[in-house]
Amino acid sequence: MTLQEYLAEADRLDRDLAERLAAIDAATRVDVVKGQLREWRASLDQLQKSITAVPPDGRRDAGIALNRVRKGFDDAMAAREAAGQARGAGASLDLTMPARDRWQGGIHPVTLVIREIQEMFREIGFTVALGPEAETEWYNFGALNFPADHPAMDAHDTLYLGPGTLLRTHTSPVQVRTMQRWAPPIRILAPGNVYRRDFFDPSHAPMFSQLEGLSVDEGVSFVDLKATLTHFGRRFFGAARTRFRPSYFPFTEPSAEMDAQCGVCNGVGCPACKGTGWLEILGSGMVHPSVLDAAGIDSERYTGWAFGMGPGRIAMARYGIPDIRLLYDSDVRFLEQIAR
Ligand code: PHE
Repeated sequence: MTLQEYLAEADRLDRDLAERLAAIDAATRVDVVKGQLREWRASLDQLQKSITAVPPDGRRDAGIALNRVRKGFDDAMAAREAAGQARGAGASLDLTMPARDRWQGGIHPVTLVIREIQEMFREIGFTVALGPEAETEWYNFGALNFPADHPAMDAHDTLYLGPGTLLRTHTSPVQVRTMQRWAPPIRILAPGNVYRRDFFDPSHAPMFSQLEGLSVDEGVSFVDLKATLTHFGRRFFGAARTRFRPSYFPFTEPSAEMDAQCGVCNGVGCPACKGTGWLEILGSGMVHPSVLDAAGIDSERYTGWAFGMGPGRIAMARYGIPDIRLLYDSDVRFLEQIAR
């Protein structure tokens, strides 16, 4: 190949590149442009190889021509790249573009209620205690003064794991575990899941959370129970009034259920209180002496009071949730209306 022929081929490739580039839209991404010019690049590689066919005294000029063609290609690609970036930068300054919504998850309504109640009781000296969800019959029933034939122990009501072991049906066994472990004064709150052999329906679930409270000391009386729970009813529910109704639990004597006047309608009656003006909040009572004794606490010296409530029920009343199953679905469309 003569030098003249080599230079002519370099010129042809140069012009060919200009023509091809002119035919590719200026907005095309550089990697796509490079792909479309693959054939042309092959011709350039070919030209580079054939430089050995040029007589030695012409190779210097041939090399200069080759590099000029290659630089033309590199410059063109660099220019397109820069133009593309400028367009991108312009686009990122489009202030009319709506921001993308961010959903970071949130705290479940039941957890919100538990935390808020814990916070209120922390202020008056209660700490948090936990116990196992798999319990023995003794902790769940026996130590809590349930007679051996009590219907709550029936296989229809309780999920047994094996002989003498079961999924706890309430958080009250944590009372016993706490009293075995710590000497009075005791003031604890015990949140946790409990299990009952119920089907899922709008107002029942086989697993739900409870929040238990226990206070044991010398000289503790029903006045402490009533004053503390009334304080809580006012603070948490914004209730103007609370009322205590006589009740029965094997592990408390006397026992009482507490209602709080509905803070939504001030007792007039509304959907949150099902038209009654009152919200049923919790079960409570003075710890039965035989429970203190079973837990190794001297029932002649100490007295105590306890309560148990369902944060799920409370969340339903507070947030107007009509169906308990919504609390288990983890449907973001539901949760994001309440979650903080
Ligand atoms: N454990 C009882 C229940 O599950 C509630 C309760 C707790 C009542 C503590 C009195 C004292 O219904």
